[in-house]
Order: sequence, then C-alpha cells, then structure tokens
Amino acid sequence: MPVILAIESSCDETSASVCVDGKILSNYIANQTVHEKYGGVVPELASRAHMQHIVPVVHTALNEAGYSITDIDAIAFTQAPGLIGSLLVGGQFAKSLSLALDRPLIAVHHMQAHVLANLIDDPKPDFPFLCLTVSGGHTQIVVCESPTNLKVIGETIDDAAGEAFDKSAKLLGLPYPGGPLIDKYAKEGDANRFKFPEPKIEGLNFSFSGLKTSILYFLQNAGKSNLFKEEFTATEKEKQEFIQNNLPDICASIQHRIVTILLNKVKKASLETGIINICLAGGVSANSGLRQAFEEAGKKYHWNTFIPAFQYCTDNAGMIAITGYYKYLAGQFADLTVGSTARAEW
Ligand code: KG4
Ligand code: ZN
Repeated sequence: MPVILAIESSCDETSASVCVDGKILSNYIANQTVHEKYGGVVPELASRAHMQHIVPVVHTALNEAGYSITDIDAIAFTQAPGLIGSLLVGGQFAKSLSLALDRPLIAVHHMQAHVLANLIDDPKPDFPFLCLTVSGGHTQIVVCESPTNLKVIGETIDDAAGEAFDKSAKLLGLPYPGGPLIDKYAKEGDANRFKFPEPKIEGLNFSFSGLKTSILYFLQNAGKSNLFKEEFTATEKEKQEFIQNNLPDICASIQHRIVTILLNKVKKASLETGIINICLAGGVSANSGLRQAFEEAGKKYHWNTFIPAFQYCTDNAGMIAITGYYKYLAGQFADLTVGSTARAEW
C-alpha cells in the first residue's frame, strides 16, 4: 500500500497529488494567471510563481487526501522535460522532502506520465496500447507495452498540436491560450467551408508549421482567390472584417484540419502495429472536435478507445503520482544527485 506524494512543476501549473496503492486521492492544481497578458508562458515568472505556490499546494493535496506528510512512503516529481527554472523548483522541493523525511525519491518523465494518465481511472486499457499525446509542447504517438516500457514511434518535427491551435488563434487575434477558443467557435462553424492543405510527411511523424503559414496567407488574402499563396491581396481592414464575419467557419475548418492530421497518423500507427487499444492524452485531448472524431474512428475501425478525465489531461500531479506508483513497484528510484533537465529522451 505505498502512499506516494507527487509534484508537477514543468511549465505553468503547480500541482501536487497523493496516490495510495494506485488510487489518486487528491490532485490539486494551482494555475498561473500572470502569463495571460504576455501571450505565452514567461519562464522567469513561472519559476517565481512555483516558489510561491509549492508549499500551500502540497499542503492542500495532503489535506484533501486526509494524509499527513509523515505518512508518505515516497516522493515522485517531474524531472524532465519542461522549463528548467520551473522543473528546478519542484525537483529541489522533492529532494528536500526526501532528505528530511528519509523517504525514497522517484524521478518521472512528464511525457511518460501523460500517457500513464490512462491508467488512473477504470476502464483501463490492456497492454499493449497506443497513445496519442497532444499538448502545448508535444505531439507524440507512443507504444506502451507496460507501465515502465514505452516507446515513441512518431512525433512532431516542428510545432506541437497545441501550438498549432494557439498560433492559429493568435493569427485570428484571439488571446492566449487560444486552443479552447478555437474549440468554442468551431462548434458553430462549418468545418468544410475552407480546405486547409494537409502536410505531406512520411511515416508516423507530424508537421504543423505549414498549416500555420497557410492560415497566415489565407487571412492576408481575406478569403479571396489563391487562398494559401503569399499574395497579400487584402487590406488590414478587409482582413479583420473577414475574420469577424467568418470566425466560426474559419475555426471549424482549422480544427478539422488539425484533427484529421492527428487521426490519420493514429490510423496508420494502428495498422502498422496491429494495436487496437488506443488512448489520448495531453491538454489538447480536451478539444471537443478531436474527442468526437476519435470516438467515431474508434467505432469505424473497432478500436477500444480511452480518454483520461479532463483533470488528468492537462498538466497535473495525478499523472506523476500514478507513474511514481508503477516506478515504485518496479523499484525504480532516484538518488539525491538526480538533476532536472529541460529536454530528455525516454
Ligand atoms: O498538456 P497541456 O495542459 O500543457 C502542456 O504540457 O503543454 O496543454 C496545453 C495546450 C495548449 O496549447 C492549449 O491551447 C491546448 O492544450 N488546449 C486546447 C483545448 N484545451 C487546451 N486546444 C484545443 N482545444 C481545446 N479545447
Ligand atoms: Zn504536459
């Protein structure tokens, strides 16, 4: 019955979770609002906010679970990847607790944890399963043979899916992070009105930077002829009017293209591996168009589909805790010399 305290601080959410014998008892998340006016996460401000949040966040997670700090058997923390200043706050805090309480430390890879969020609630996928992880920083297809045996078989060569949403939203003049707003406007729009080109990229990798450029040209031409070419036929006023008058259709068409790019690769991965247990993970799996298309593809191709509860899709310590639990069972502990790293293969 290991009691695991987990800490996540890789980007702009400070989160702590208590997990007992593989059950998540608390998953407290403090969001940082300080970045909104900058149109993106400011690393230095994120580190400072983590410093302010970490003690109360850990207290709240322990209180909600009904455990005291001395009850815990191990401390899991996000070791990589992420913003280095943010990672260091959670990492140093976890190491200090490990030393002070004389409890083992478990270093967790953030992307592995996004995948294993699918093992938190029932029904859980059988192994092996495929996972499409889509967040603001990553887009990956992973084969998961067991909780400690995961392999990346496809990933983005440029922007992540979340970035594709956020950068498109920025071109439309929507505030950061624009992904949820595109989702909102897309609900009222016609997804087939504008046909954005699909990138030609071999294998299981993704590319979203071409889509961003085509949206830029499309808007600069304000929906006139040669939609995706660099022509700049419209004035700024025409462009703004075009956006205002067509926002739902533009959002629905962009979302449709991002979703089809993602799902076409998942179909390919399923065919190539023969795996039909298929999961989603990461913040972009909150997107209603993606969820719907994923479920429809599941019915069509006879997949068993899984999507974690929303609180376990965006960055959260619950997913760090469940990964910590499986690493605890496998005896995979770290020592106090373990460093935080901004980028890390796995
Ligand atoms: O996993 P996450 O919370 O943080 C990272 O690790 O990046 O993902 C955040 C990303 C942002 O790009 C945000 O715009 C996107 O997820 N996102 C969405 C939606 N909700 C969050 N994108 C599209 N539709 C949504 N409903
Ligand atoms: Zn993440």
